[in-house]
Amino acid sequence: MCPGSYDPVTAGHLDVVERAAALHDEVVVAILHNPGKAGTFTVEERIGFVERAVAARGLEGGVRVEAFAARLLVDVCRELGADVVVKGVRGPGDVTYEWPMARMNRHLTGLETVFLPCDPALEHVSSSLVKEVARWGGDVSGLVPDEVRDALVARLRGSD
Ligand code: PNS
Repeated sequence: MCPGSYDPVTAGHLDVVERAAALHDEVVVAILHNPGKAGTFTVEERIGFVERAVAARGLEGGVRVEAFAARLLVDVCRELGADVVVKGVRGPGDVTYEWPMARMNRHLTGLETVFLPCDPALEHVSSSLVKEVARWGGDVSGLVPDEVRDALVARLRGSD
C-alpha cells in the first residue's frame, strides 16, 4: 500500500511506487482524502493523473489506484488485505513526520511500514513545493508528469 494525498502525484511518488512494485506482487496507490477539505485537484483528477503515469511506466499490471474518503489507513489495508505500507522518505524531516504514524498504525492493527529512502535527485520534490513553484511561474518540468505540470499551470497561475 502506497498511501498519500497525491494532490498532485509527483516524480517522487512515482519513483516510490515503481520501487514498491519491484518488491511486491501487488501495489495499491491509496489516495486518502478528506471530503470536507477541497484540494487543488479533485479526487477523480488525482486518480487519472496517477493511473496514466503508472501506465506510462508500464506498471499497470501490478499497480492499481483506489481512493478512500475519511477512513483510517489501517481499516483500508485490512479491507484490501494489504499487509505492508510503503513510504518514501526524503530525509530526517520525513522520518520525524512518518515515525509516529508508523508506530500508531502498528499499535492499532499490527500494520507494518517500510521506508524507502528517496532517489537523491528527487529529495526536494513535494506536492506542496511543486504547487508553490508552479503558482509563481516556475518551471516544474520533470518534477511531475507533463500532464500534471500543464494542469498545475492552468489551475494555479492567476488564482489568488
Ligand atoms: O501525502 P500525505 O498528505 O503525507 O499523506 C498522509 C496520509 C494520507 C497517508 C495520512 O494522513 C493517513 O494515513 N491518513 C488516513 C487517516 C489515518 O489513518 N490517520 C492516522 C494515521 S496514524
